[in-house]
Amino acid sequence: MSSLETQAGGIGGSNPPAAGTFIPAGYDKRLMIASGRASLDLGTRIAERLGVGLTDAGLKTFSDGEMYCRYRDSIRGADLFIVQSTCGSASEGLTVNDALMELLVMVHAAKHASAHRIIAVTPWYGYSRQDKKSAPREPISARLVAELLETAGIDRLVTMDLHAGQVQGFFSRPVDHMTAMPILTQYVQDRLGTENLVIIAPDAGRAKLARKFAQKVGAPYALLEKERPAHQVAQTGYVIGDVQGKIAVILDDIINTGGTLGAAAQAVMDEGAKEVYAVATHGVFSGEAFATLGRSPLAGIVVTDTVPLRDGAPDTITVLTCADTLTDSVRRIFTDDSVSEIFQGENQLF
Ligand code: R5P
Repeated sequence: MSSLETQAGGIGGSNPPAAGTFIPAGYDKRLMIASGRASLDLGTRIAERLGVGLTDAGLKTFSDGEMYCRYRDSIRGADLFIVQSTCGSASEGLTVNDALMELLVMVHAAKHASAHRIIAVTPWYGYSRQDKKSAPREPISARLVAELLETAGIDRLVTMDLHAGQVQGFFSRPVDHMTAMPILTQYVQDRLGTENLVIIAPDAGRAKLARKFAQKVGAPYALLEKERPAHQVAQTGYVIGDVQGKIAVILDDIINTGGTLGAAAQAVMDEGAKEVYAVATHGVFSGEAFATLGRSPLAGIVVTDTVPLRDGAPDTITVLTCADTLTDSVRRIFTDDSVSEIFQGENQLF
């Protein structure tokens, strides 16, 4: 059984129960970590850092595509953290929707197995870009996912660099919002220095984030004008700000088809930038993304491991782990300590 005793002593530890209750002396809270198959590597990294084994969730896909979960150990009374980004995994043969359904059945199984608290650790929240109606008769799918997770039985959600802050408001349960910004700013400072740098927001939606990132690394920022003439098609117009002769770093939350970054990188090079790089939290890289980015002038792309990197990635892509940040969050949630302290209160970047 995977468990970690709370340092605070837990129920029956430093706070012994009143006489007459039926809580056995020495009873302690238990921390358990399970991982869905879309996030096995990340879940393993978090469990290792916590010094616990991954709880075997007995996951499988039936021949008709239905998902199955049966925890191999008792989880009664435990705080169960389920690590699963709702992304596809080519190596596991999972689509985005498989990963989502797998997470839902894992949560539901835990609820009916009497876990004390069930926490979904979903650093990449699939469907997060469908956070409003942009046209008549569209769904608000990010809200639907929130409702599904709550119906399944989560007590809280840990996520990272949401596409938009309002997704937090789709939940009635607490949402702990993590950010990879400290990891990415540190990397940029270490590898590219701070001289002659300019941080680029690829569209208006990222302007605030780019400004904060630029302040952290001590550089100016510029903004690109982007249009989406159709779903999954990005057109970059002009650059607002000075990029002439500079090392440009484009900052985004997600790289999906690579269309946004490819067009943005070309636009800043056309405006006279010396070199162009990209950093983003979530590297989804769907469809022809590797080829699209390979044709672009990007000299380097940095993402985190919120989404597993598919085979065939060009060597310009670097993956940094966000496991330390997530591990710290898990530990603090388990012990009821402040999570925002990890980021000195700067984890709401919207
Ligand atoms: C858009 O608002 C997002 O921040 C990303 O720029 C976008 O989702 C990236 O998608 P793609 O790589 O397909 O252009």
